Amino acid sequence: MSGQAGSRTHTCITCAPPRDLGAAKFAAPSPDDHPMTGAPVSRTDGLVKVTGAARYTAEVDIEGAAYGALVQSTIARGRIRSMDTSEAEAAPGVLLVLTNLNAPPGRNPPWSFGEPLPILDGDAIYYEGQSIGVVVADTLEQAHHAASLVNVAYDEEDPRTHFEGRLGEAYLPEGEEEDLLFVKGDLDAGQREAEVTIEHVYETPVEHHHPMEPHATVAVWSDETPRLTVYSSQQGIEWAQGDVANVFGLESEDVRIVSRFVGGGFGNKLAAWPHVSITALAAREAGRPVRLALTREQMVTSVGHRPRTRQRVTLGARRDGTLSLLRHDAIASISTIGTYVEETTKVPRMLYACPHREAIQRVVQLDASTPTYMRAPGEASGSFGLESAMDEMATALGMDPIAFRMANEPEIDPETDLPWSSRSVVECLRQGAETFGWDRRSPQPRAQRDGNAFVGYGVALGTYPTFSNPSSARITARTDGTILVECGATDIGTGTYTILAQVAARVLGVPVESVAVALGDSLLPPARGSGASSAAASTSTAVDAAATELRQQLVAAATSDPASPLEGLPASEINLRDGRLFSQSEPDRGYPLAALLQRRGEPLTTEITTEPGVEGYSKHAFGAHFCEVRVDEDLGEVRVTRFHGCYGAGRILNAKTARSQFLGSMIMGIGMALMEETPLDARLGRYAGKGFADYHVPVHADIGAVTAEWVEEHDPYINPMGAKGIGEVGIVGVAAAVANAVHNATGRRIRSLPITPDKIIAASSA
Ligand code: MOS
Repeated sequence: MSGQAGSRTHTCITCAPPRDLGAAKFAAPSPDDHPMTGAPVSRTDGLVKVTGAARYTAEVDIEGAAYGALVQSTIARGRIRSMDTSEAEAAPGVLLVLTNLNAPPGRNPPWSFGEPLPILDGDAIYYEGQSIGVVVADTLEQAHHAASLVNVAYDEEDPRTHFEGRLGEAYLPEGEEEDLLFVKGDLDAGQREAEVTIEHVYETPVEHHHPMEPHATVAVWSDETPRLTVYSSQQGIEWAQGDVANVFGLESEDVRIVSRFVGGGFGNKLAAWPHVSITALAAREAGRPVRLALTREQMVTSVGHRPRTRQRVTLGARRDGTLSLLRHDAIASISTIGTYVEETTKVPRMLYACPHREAIQRVVQLDASTPTYMRAPGEASGSFGLESAMDEMATALGMDPIAFRMANEPEIDPETDLPWSSRSVVECLRQGAETFGWDRRSPQPRAQRDGNAFVGYGVALGTYPTFSNPSSARITARTDGTILVECGATDIGTGTYTILAQVAARVLGVPVESVAVALGDSLLPPARGSGASSAAASTSTAVDAAATELRQQLVAAATSDPASPLEGLPASEINLRDGRLFSQSEPDRGYPLAALLQRRGEPLTTEITTEPGVEGYSKHAFGAHFCEVRVDEDLGEVRVTRFHGCYGAGRILNAKTARSQFLGSMIMGIGMALMEETPLDARLGRYAGKGFADYHVPVHADIGAVTAEWVEEHDPYINPMGAKGIGEVGIVGVAAAVANAVHNATGRRIRSLPITPDKIIAASSA
């Protein structure tokens, strides 16, 4: 491992284990008061988004902001010999040209994740597209033009970017055996007990997150606290704040991060990548606010990707369909400087019962940009291998793939030996199969035709851990009777604004429309960001608790107010509904909440920090994915004509936004299955194809009928809301379900993603 690499955290910062509350479990909420599925309220931020009133980072209105443009390396490995900035400096409108060679020294590397390199410092080049300079100019066009005029001379070395050619050098990072190597039972015994054994290699390519909104940052310095305000498209306020403060040696309070609207992230906006601090440095040196947005091309090298993986999966089973042996031996690409490892072996450790297993995750270093968390990082990639292999074993045993999975349901988590907090795999398989019409599947490939196309069905499981994080929320009942919820969480497009308004409205008995929600600012009560599918459950728990306390205060105020019709009644006698406080036994006796607050003349506020989660249980969301494909063998074309997901994810906070999350995940998984890949030209060490012309994601015409449903699941252990995260479980196993359907349709087994026409045509249908 390179000497540059710092100590790495194995799990997302969001995935820190919850603290033990010592509680046995949470009181089960009454279904009347707290229905298992929240109302399908439309997004409260929908109107401002579709009318353009919502300002995304690149659009924030900042007086006198200049524009920044990055200069990036064109080689993958070597040293900068010189940088001639004279032409750029002389170009129209240019205010400043900063480079690795002329920037003032004295910055630390960011602290959390990403790349532990100092910002604009040093002459070493570690990958193509490394940011080595920034130009500040009056206009966007002037900045980009001048950036193209910076002349860089390199001492170039041969880049080590050939993944297949370097597999022999794969290694298990030292000191990380506990996370990356897992052995249980006796592999020889597992082999002896096996009556059928299969072993295959599965491969996944480099994929990019490509959120619709590119990364953008606007930095403003001030003489007062906070000294530095950074508007930036980020998934988490606290992480960006810590990163930027560390780079400049500032206290956290001196850095304010603002991220009110985020146009998608999928993991690449967890870190404050180098461009964030480069923008702040440029603003400081230029003496003006600076606005910088990454181009779509720069998104490919500058903010992470899902790395390449190669997974050798060995399964041994008895004739009755029970597994005796499971080995998952995987290699993922890693950069020479970053510390992120794609842990494809997480799902194989825990999804199925099997007495003898080994899961090992090794890495190969490439002179390429640093990979990072991408929607279900490790689970999405690793489940392609495992869930394809499970289908291959079901075929080898002559078993239905659903029955085969049910035959290997573990009583407890086989990785940790902890009981499941809840696990609805069997229910999801049963109910999903029923909805989908699995009984119409022919076990024989090439048995169903529709015109020129073969029709096939495939199934695969999804799973993602449930994380709950400490979170704070402040709630204010304002004098006009409306409610303000404030929380330093982010809404990355998933519906956080909406669900928090719903939770507060339900507890306080007011219409959702009278609840305003403020998010995305480090001046608000701190909460972890949107990552590891943890935000909804964590922040809703805090808002629920704060609203409950505020309700008690409101009731106390109403019963002690001499002018109130409720004066002197016991608190237990008071209810709140439709914005009105009233007596339970005499519903006509009461008055509007607004009247209480107007009379008070001042708002009522409460702030709470919650630390959800109980130790001692294995906590995961589960799902079953069902796919119907039509494959035209002459063209090699695969169409996903139907896709269905059935999930067990605890309480669903909003039926509409949850459904959108599930559909979005499944569609992203279909993209992973059929289209998404960024090829790395190993000779030049450069990514080929850096825009949507080359990187294909599904469009409407590519997607058939995609549907989602969920089973009722009461989980009293995960958090007081009983809600599991849903942002990621919906992509896990999707690519395998597609590959399994392709096999059922055609008899062709594709073990390398994406399943493009050339692979279909080349594969044997035997
Ligand atoms: Mo997620 S990959 O933690 O945004």
